[in-house]
Amino acid sequence: MTRKWWHDKVVYQIYPKSFYDTNQDGIGDIPGITAKLDYLKDLGVDILWISPCYPSPFADQGYDISDYYQIHPAFGTLEDMDRLLAAAKSRDMYILLDLVVNHCSDEHPWFEKACQDPDGEYGNFFYIEDRQDEKLPCNWRSYFGGPVWEPLPGHPDKQYLHVFHKKQPDLNWENPKVREEIYKNINWWLDRGLNGFRIDAIINIKKCLPYRDYPADQEDGLSSMDNMLEEASGIGEFLGEMRDRTFKPHNAFSVGEVFHEKPEELEDFIGENGYFSSMFDFSASTFGDSPKGWYDRTPITPEDYKNCCFQAQERIGDKGFLSNLIENHDLPRGVSYYIPREELTLESKKLLAVMYFMLRGLPFIYQGQEIGMENIEVRSIDQVDDISAVNQYHTALNAGYSPEEAIGAVSPYSRDNARTPMQWNASPYAGFSTARPWLDVNPNYTEINAAAQEQDENSLLRFYKKLTALRKDPEYGNTVVYGEFIPYLREQRNLMGYYRKYEHTLLVLGNMQTECQNIPLPGVCKKVLLNNCHKLSMDHEKITLESWQAVILLME
Ligand code: GLC
Ligand code: CA
Repeated sequence: MTRKWWHDKVVYQIYPKSFYDTNQDGIGDIPGITAKLDYLKDLGVDILWISPCYPSPFADQGYDISDYYQIHPAFGTLEDMDRLLAAAKSRDMYILLDLVVNHCSDEHPWFEKACQDPDGEYGNFFYIEDRQDEKLPCNWRSYFGGPVWEPLPGHPDKQYLHVFHKKQPDLNWENPKVREEIYKNINWWLDRGLNGFRIDAIINIKKCLPYRDYPADQEDGLSSMDNMLEEASGIGEFLGEMRDRTFKPHNAFSVGEVFHEKPEELEDFIGENGYFSSMFDFSASTFGDSPKGWYDRTPITPEDYKNCCFQAQERIGDKGFLSNLIENHDLPRGVSYYIPREELTLESKKLLAVMYFMLRGLPFIYQGQEIGMENIEVRSIDQVDDISAVNQYHTALNAGYSPEEAIGAVSPYSRDNARTPMQWNASPYAGFSTARPWLDVNPNYTEINAAAQEQDENSLLRFYKKLTALRKDPEYGNTVVYGEFIPYLREQRNLMGYYRKYEHTLLVLGNMQTECQNIPLPGVCKKVLLNNCHKLSMDHEKITLESWQAVILLME
């Protein structure tokens, strides 16, 4: 495998609205990111991915962009962004922005012009269809609920397609002019000094045309987008063109938010000359999904988690580099999702960190994950900001749930869980701002915060620093980055064990239960590189792991 500049890096995702507020308006901002660069550098982070900070009406928290060449005034200015790029560069850090080009905002001039003249040039920037009778062109359900079709403003005889919110009209990638506009924008940012992009919702850009209905999977008579996406083919032409026109000539890093790729396409996506540098492994985060909705999801067990990770690792082998994560701005907090509630302790949080971080691929840390931020408990739908959770709440009500049951079923998956302000210290509003934040702080900030963990040698934050340091270790780094992944004692229940083998042989072991567990050792352990507990009982033949104990062993 040809070595790439980003292979040995650690990536950190910033949700700017909730990261750090420097002008005390309750909204995080770009200068807030610059102010915290030293904290991030010290954590061992190299690449920052910043969720959208462009002008936006915020129908979907910035994932609805009305100007691709500007910064939203609430986040700062283009000059602030330039200062951040320069400050990152001077610390050998890299910045990625979010590329949201499946759709734009309905307040983008392109859509406004399309509404003025649907038959003109900009009409063809979108998917616009005539409305003759009551029948919609197809029965696809948008991700945020309801049909993907909406009357075109000012033209009751026409309708446009939006696979997300109605304020996010889909861009028509079949139109070469649209693609040109997108490449122009990507290159503009890369020329400005940006190092790459995280690419939003990209699998949706290829629609299976002509439109047709799929079997309904809920009472509403609509069909999940999954069905269309499984049938769609030919996305590679767009993605290959985008790579050749933008990322490749800039040697930029790109990571795709890809769902539904076909197994045989994995190499096309992230192989040696893939469309993207990397793509996220969502197999554990989507485990238990139900077409009925969140209320019908199956919670994930430690065994399921292990199987998801192992299968993904085996699918990819050495064909490319997956991006590994336990949480992001669309998911619950990883520690709340993967660890059974009664077993959520400092040790189990550390174990989860070890298990995903040591997989082959690129580790992503989402803001607050490094201090073990947890889900926020919500008792009423009025406290929810996330449009996805609001929609899922109504889906649960329609399925016969009471309001309390519905909020109870939906709240563990709400995207707000990850979007509460970063907990910097124990002062009011967690040191995120002195003004009331746009979204309430998790009340546990007095116990869980970065300042306290900086002081505490035994904290999760200090533990994450050890993990990032191991990835960069002159002796073991190559093995952590390039080592082959081989499962160890796969069948042993609630044990997650695997080797990473290259210049050295590392054995990663985690006991994902409260009871201790004996594990036979395959050879002589030369050194314990990391241990999340104070003690360790091991002889030549076996090791006994305590409750949620995880170790990284250097083997002979
Ligand atoms: C992606 C983003 C999510 C957003 C959606 C539509 O899934 O991560 O936050 O709502 O795309 O842009
Ligand atoms: Ca601010």
